[in-house]
This record gives sequence, C-alpha cells and structure tokens, in this order.
Amino acid sequence: MQDSGLKLFIMGKSKLQSREEPVVDNTVTITNNRTGQQADFDIIDPTVGLSSIDVRQLSSKLGLFTYDPGFHATASCKSDITYIDGDAGILRYRGYPIEQLADHSNYMEVSYLLMYGELPDDSQYQNFIGSIKNHTIVHESLMQFITGFHNDAHPMAIMVGVVGALSAFYHDSLDITNPEHRELSAHRLLAKMPTIAALSFRHANGHPPIYPCNDLGYIENFLNMMFSYPTESYQVSRVAARAMELIFILHADHEQNASTSTVRLASSSGANPFACIAAGIASLWGPAHGGANEAVIRMLEEIKDPSEISKFIDRAKDKNDSYRLMGFGHRIYKNHDPRATIIRRACNELLQELDTINQPLFEIAKELERIALEDEYFIERNLYPNVDFYSGIILKALEMPLNMFTVVFTMARTVGWISQWAEMMTDQDQRIGRPRQLYMGIEKRDYVAMDKRD
Ligand code: CMC
Repeated sequence: MQDSGLKLFIMGKSKLQSREEPVVDNTVTITNNRTGQQADFDIIDPTVGLSSIDVRQLSSKLGLFTYDPGFHATASCKSDITYIDGDAGILRYRGYPIEQLADHSNYMEVSYLLMYGELPDDSQYQNFIGSIKNHTIVHESLMQFITGFHNDAHPMAIMVGVVGALSAFYHDSLDITNPEHRELSAHRLLAKMPTIAALSFRHANGHPPIYPCNDLGYIENFLNMMFSYPTESYQVSRVAARAMELIFILHADHEQNASTSTVRLASSSGANPFACIAAGIASLWGPAHGGANEAVIRMLEEIKDPSEISKFIDRAKDKNDSYRLMGFGHRIYKNHDPRATIIRRACNELLQELDTINQPLFEIAKELERIALEDEYFIERNLYPNVDFYSGIILKALEMPLNMFTVVFTMARTVGWISQWAEMMTDQDQRIGRPRQLYMGIEKRDYVAMDKRD
C-alpha cells in the first residue's frame, strides 16, 4: 500500500515552533468624538513591515467595530512564513529573497522551507522527497470521481470537487489536533495535487490516465502525467521543466491573499485540511486572482492583431466599461511585482529557446506591455504587468492547455496553503473567523400577509 511509506517518514513532528511574542511598547489612543470616550490600544511591531493596532477590544472598550471591506488595512493573523513589501517590490519566503530562491533553489526545497521554516540539510531533503513520492498515487476509487465529471468540465471544477473528496479517503489523517496527522495530510496534499490535476486534464480530453512515476522529480512527473501516452515514451524537456519549476517557485506562497485567507477562514472552524484546501482552490479560480493567467491568453487571442491593441487599452481606461487588462495591476505591489521581473526574463529566454518568438500572440503580448507601460493611465495608477501576465505566456509556449493554467497555479500554491494552515493550527491567538458587519438594511417591520401586499 502506498501509504505504508509513512514508516519511512522520519522527520517526526512538525517543526513549527511557537514564535517569540512580538514587542508591544507603544499604544495608540482612540477617541470617539461622539461620546467623548477614549481608550488605549497596543501597537504590535512585526519583525519588519508596518505595525498593527491591536483592535480586539475595540467594541468592548468603545462600542465600535472597524469597517474594512477587502481587508485593505487589516492584519488578519501573525505569520512567520512570507513577507511582502508592495512599495519596494520585495517578496521573501521565510526571510529568503524570492530572487535567490528562483536562481538557486527548486520547488521541493522551497516547499520544505515554507512548511518547516528552514532550508533542509541533505538527509531532511531526501526524507521529504521520499515521503512526497510515497504519496503521489490516488486511491483507485477516487479516479471514479474524476471520470464521473462530464468531459467538458473545467479542470478547476474537478479540482475543487476531487480535492475536497480526499477527506472521504484519508480518515487516518484527519485529526487536526494531532501534529503527525497534520503533517501526513500536508504531504498527501502536496504529493497528490499534480496527479489529480493531470488526471482531470486527461479525462476532459478522453486520454488514458497516466500514473505517477516516482523515478521523476515533482515537476517532471507532472509533465509526464500530462503529456505522455501508454503507446509511446515521452521525454520531458529540460527547458520546459525548468520554466515550470520557476512558475511553481514564484507562486508557492503570497501571504494572506484571497485564497490563503479563504483556507484560513475555512480552517478556523476546525474543518479538515482537504476541505479547506478545496475552499482555497475555489477562491483561486476567480479571474481577479489565479484565473488571471488564463484570462491573459484569452485577452491576447481576442486582441488578435497588434493593430487592435489600442482599442482594448481604450476600453480598459474607459470609466463606463468594466473591462480590465488582464495580467496588469496588483493589490499589494504598487511599484513592481518582483515575481514579474524574474519571470519576464525567463519568459524571453524561453521564447527564444523554443523559437516561438515570431508567434503572433507573443508579439501582441510584448506590444501590449510596451504601450501600457508608456500610457499615463497605467503609469498614474501604478499598473504594471504582474506575474500572471508572463506565466500565462510561458504556459502557452509550453503548450499547456489554456484551461490548465489556473490548475498549475493551484498546484504551486498548495504548499503555501498547507504551510499557512499548519501555522494557524499552532497559533494560540487564532479563533473562529467571524467578521462583523455594518448593517444597512431596514431596522424592523411587521410581516404582511400576501393578499395585503402592495
Ligand atoms: N486594467 C485597467 N485598469 C485597472 C486594472 C487593469 N488591470 N487594474 C486596476 N485598474 C484601475 C481601476 O479601474 C482603478 O481605477 P480608478 O482609480 O480610476 O477607479 C485603479 O486602477 C485601482 O484599481 P483597484 O481595483 O482599486 O485595485 P485593486 O488593488 O483593488 O485590484 C487587481 C488589484 C489585481 C484585482 C486589479 O488590478 C485587476 O483586476 N487586475 C486584473 C486581473 C489580474 O491580473 N489579476 C492577477 C493578480 S496577480 C496574481 C495574484 O496574486 O492572484
């Protein structure tokens, strides 16, 4: 049985440490000018970045809530995992700059780093890879879930359903109070995600399923399950594997984005990790988040010809049109997206290596980027191409089917979700997520019988 490899899993308990309590050496005084009431609130300092006001007692002290739709100004948790400075264009995993990880590391090592907080030594690395390989296969009955979907199902729809269904198969790792269960679930999720992703694609295309091959690395194995056939051997190209590895590293985590916050909120009720990650996948699917890489290619295909670009730019600038340039702008990065800087270079290198440089879609992409970057509208609003602008182009160049783009993002982000989830499980401050609201509806009225309604 595949999971009997658990006994080889020698890392033991998760190394997630309880962090040092942050320094609190200052307060802010808030005055309610309406009532004259005043109260002090602690300012909590992080290791680096903006400090936060601890408003947990705001309603009890001043009878007020905070109003912050979209959480623009709210730190929803303390975290040791990923640091972003949007103004300076900085992204670090566990303190390591993304540029260094992209140049020197690989996705499995980055995954270990995110999950355990440190870069692994050789034996930790080998044990980790060994454990992940031991869990790559999925239960045969789970395959029936996949074949039960209609063949035109979007692979993301299959991912949401099938990843959630994992909780029906792995009862032996669902006790979230048990660190060993948590670790086992985490490894299972990381290991099985490429298998489920590739199976969903193969089903949609009527291709026979390809089982994982544990002789291959994580990325190569995914590409093999996507593109090989039982009838002929498939050689994973080094260029393709490296480009894909880079996409995985750059998408591995991004602190409290919409899907990660969804995972945390779902988990806050004590729900099992498979269900919570399925919730994260649902959130990632949206075009404003992980769906953007797919939307970029659809946009370029719609533009069709460089001479049409200005029409689309005009639409994006028109206040009365909800149209946006896909792959442009970011909620946090208002200077540049450091992932985009890295991936842009890789994208150019890849296009040259693959000799796709003259393909019309890539010409349109480069021209669109050039025009937008010189346009006052985009300059004033700090709208730069983001990571998904280039990752979409790379995936297209690698002949990844369009509806698999967001699935690739999903696979890459899985380790971020499970690291954030595992961190939350040991965080003493965490409570069930239960935001409040500003009720703006009718205060109270009496029920009117149907025949008496106007
Ligand atoms: N095209 C045209 N105008 C835009 C765009 C765009 N892509 N993005 C923002 N704007 C404008 C927007 O209309 C607004 O203009 P004004 O001030 O005149 O009303 C201004 O810029 C600020 O927009 P916002 O909606 O307040 O910005 P936000 O930080 O809430 O949104 C975003 C960030 C990523 C949702 C948005 O830029 C967007 O929809 N981009 C396109 C989708 C996309 O590429 N998403 C991938 C994000 S990166 C991957 C990830 O981390 O998930």
